[in-house]
Amino acid sequence: MEREDLLLKLNWFYSLEESQVELYLAQSKKFKGTYESIVFERTALVEQQHADRLAAVIRALGGEPHRLGDVLSPLFGGFLGKTLAFTGLKKTLQGNIRIENKAMADYVALLKRVGAAFGPELQTVLQHNLVDEDVHTAWFARRLADYELLDLED
Ligand SMILES: [Fe+2]
Ligand SMILES: [Fe+2]
Repeated sequence: MEREDLLLKLNWFYSLEESQVELYLAQSKKFKGTYESIVFERTALVEQQHADRLAAVIRALGGEPHRLGDVLSPLFGGFLGKTLAFTGLKKTLQGNIRIENKAMADYVALLKRVGAAFGPELQTVLQHNLVDEDVHTAWFARRLADYELLDLED
C-alpha cells in the first residue's frame, strides 16, 4: 500500500471517528437523564481517543489530519443531517451498530493490507480501535436485544 493511499484511508477513519464523537455526544444530550445517555457520553470519549491517536499516526506519516466531509450519510444510503436525527432509542442503537460495523470491517481490511509494513504503532492503533468498536457494538446490540425483548415502542 502506498503512503498516499494509506493517508487517505487514515483521514477517512479520522473523519469517521470525529463524526462519531459528535454523534454520540448529541445522542447523550438527547437521552439526558437515562443510563444510555451516560454510555453515549463515555463512548464519545473513546471515539475522541481514536481520533486523536489517528491524528498522531497521520502526522507521524507526514500528513495533516483533516475532515473529509460527511462520511456517515453514505453508510445510510443518503443524507442524514448534521447530527443524524435517528428517532427513538431503538433506531439510535440500530444506526450506531451500523456505523460501528462499518468501522470494524474497514479496520480489519486495513490491518490486513498494511500488516506491519508501516511500523508497529500504526498496527497497534488500528487493533485497539477495532477492539473498542467491537465492545461498543456488543453493548449497543445487547441493549437493542433487551429493548426488542420488552417490545417497547420506539
Ligand atoms: Fe472509534
Ligand atoms: Fe466505537
